[in-house]
Amino acid sequence: MNPIYLDHAATTPVHPDVLEAMLPFYTAFFGNPSSTHSFGRATRTALNRFRDAMAKSLGCLPAELIFTSGGTESNNMAIFGVLHASKDDKKHIITTQIEHHAVLHPCERLEGLGYEVTYLPVGPTGLIQIEDVAAAVRPDTALISIMYVNNEVGTIQPIEQIGELARAKQIPFHVDAVQALGKLPLNLHELPVDMVSLSAHKLYGPKGVGALYVSKHTKLTPHVYGGSQERKRRAGTENVAAIAGFAKAVEVLLPQVETLQEKASELRQTMIHVLEQQLGSERFTINGHKEQSVPHILNISFPGISTETLLMNLDLENVAAASGSACTSGSLEVSHVLQAMKLPENVTASAVRFSFGMGNSKEQIETAAQKIATIVHRLRNN
Ligand SMILES: Cc1ncc(COP(=O)(O)O)c(C=O)c1O
Repeated sequence: MNPIYLDHAATTPVHPDVLEAMLPFYTAFFGNPSSTHSFGRATRTALNRFRDAMAKSLGCLPAELIFTSGGTESNNMAIFGVLHASKDDKKHIITTQIEHHAVLHPCERLEGLGYEVTYLPVGPTGLIQIEDVAAAVRPDTALISIMYVNNEVGTIQPIEQIGELARAKQIPFHVDAVQALGKLPLNLHELPVDMVSLSAHKLYGPKGVGALYVSKHTKLTPHVYGGSQERKRRAGTENVAAIAGFAKAVEVLLPQVETLQEKASELRQTMIHVLEQQLGSERFTINGHKEQSVPHILNISFPGISTETLLMNLDLENVAAASGSACTSGSLEVSHVLQAMKLPENVTASAVRFSFGMGNSKEQIETAAQKIATIVHRLRNN
């Protein structure tokens, strides 16, 4: 049996059109975009074209997009960049307990440098409360950084409301939208946001390329020095082939957001339906918000069975899923997201994240769900 890949929130395969768009930049168009001769100019022109097209699709100005090496770098660039650019002595940051480590770890580093960070709690469905954000704001708050879509449970945060609040208080607002791009309609100028992190590889683009949207009103200090690329905001020869791929992914995938999410909803329902039939609805729980979440991420706990055991058995059956949490020293840490949601221990210790993508068929999901049920029955000896 061909393996069934249900880990699209971790990464996606490169779309064939994306690969095709990338290849010429390894062969015919290899010039350095900073070179002034014809080889360089050809690549520079292409780079400008990609930036223009992406800015148009995302609803921002081309100069507001900085290409990076991915979501992690974009988050670091936004957080450190805006704080270092600030002239006043504000030393307080607001974020949430359920951010990706690419936000949490920079915040921890900043704590070591004398900043204070408020990590907002979430409710049992993974949603933050706008009242909590309002209550956390202080006169010395220098930044609010909150993710759009959570990568483990799929919860969608009320970004517009938070952004309005941040605007009213004149606090820079950064959004990690790595899991939102291609899943939710995204028009950057219509959102009250100052900085938005994006990554290509969650969207059928290549790994190692992303972007940071920085509104033209936002001041940012560079974090990499040594060249004038990206308007002196991120030095280093541009990864042109990867950017070509990112632009193609945006071009191909963004117009399909609705269709893809409808399909994901069907796959989600199929998996839940088969599990209910084969296991009974009392044998598993779904983690996350019922409505305010993206359908392609389905986080399920099977109390009594450890995440590790289930994932290993699924892997033996050729089904690839994830725990959502990092694997350190060969054993799984309990997810900080599920812990923040204050779910019971037997729920946090048995959670598996399934994430669907455009290559999945209904038959695959039925097969995978049946395999899950068989494994669960076997491990429970019934
Ligand atoms: C919410 C979120 N932010 C940031 C990242 C990091 O992105 P990248 O892998 O492009 O560095 C990820 C990747 O899993 C993510 O899910």
